[in-house]
Amino acid sequence: MQQINSVEDFNRKIKNVLITKEEIDAAIVEAAKKIDAIYDGRPILLVSVLKGAFVFMADLCRAVTVPCEIGFMCAKSYYAGTTSTGKVAITMDLDRDVSGYHLVIVEDIIDTGRTLKEVVGILKERNPLSLHVVTLLDKPSRRVVDFDADITLFTIPDAFVIGYGLDCDELFRNLPYIAEYNTET
Ligand code: IMP
Ligand code: MG
Repeated sequence: MQQINSVEDFNRKIKNVLITKEEIDAAIVEAAKKIDAIYDGRPILLVSVLKGAFVFMADLCRAVTVPCEIGFMCAKSYYAGTTSTGKVAITMDLDRDVSGYHLVIVEDIIDTGRTLKEVVGILKERNPLSLHVVTLLDKPSRRVVDFDADITLFTIPDAFVIGYGLDCDELFRNLPYIAEYNTET
């Protein structure tokens, strides 16, 4: 458990900025263009996997131009500090029937791949019109199950990252950029 009792403690945990806010903004414009091109005016339902994707979802939904609804579900992959334990649970489900919707799953990061494989499997059983996955970050070197997003904004090396929605023990989600977490102090 990290000991953070002051702004100094907080700042010490931010090792270095990996992706700036400007780089994120530019990549979202490009991702939104891809989504617009796939759906070509057809309405979509953007589904954010909470909590990590809430910041990305907020920016992405304002960058697409196709008519869009938004929905939230919560999938928790259990972590012991910065290491995945491999267990995934759906802790909050969508509030509507998704048959009749073109679904776009919005995720913050694909690490082992377990969370999205589980979520996508569950949603496909509900017979949406179509389903695509967009992820802000991908750590392909960490994959333990076979899973790829349709649209990936950034591929990153095997480091634990924080900011722009991503947390370590619930802190750092409010950073406007993606940074590497300092495990040493
Ligand atoms: P997966 O099931 O291993 O692919 O893990 C996906 C989830 O773990 C993500 O949606 C994040 O919530 C969390 N996660 C994985 N890597 C990181 C990281 O580097 N920083 C913060 N959260 C992470
Ligand atoms: Mg997540």
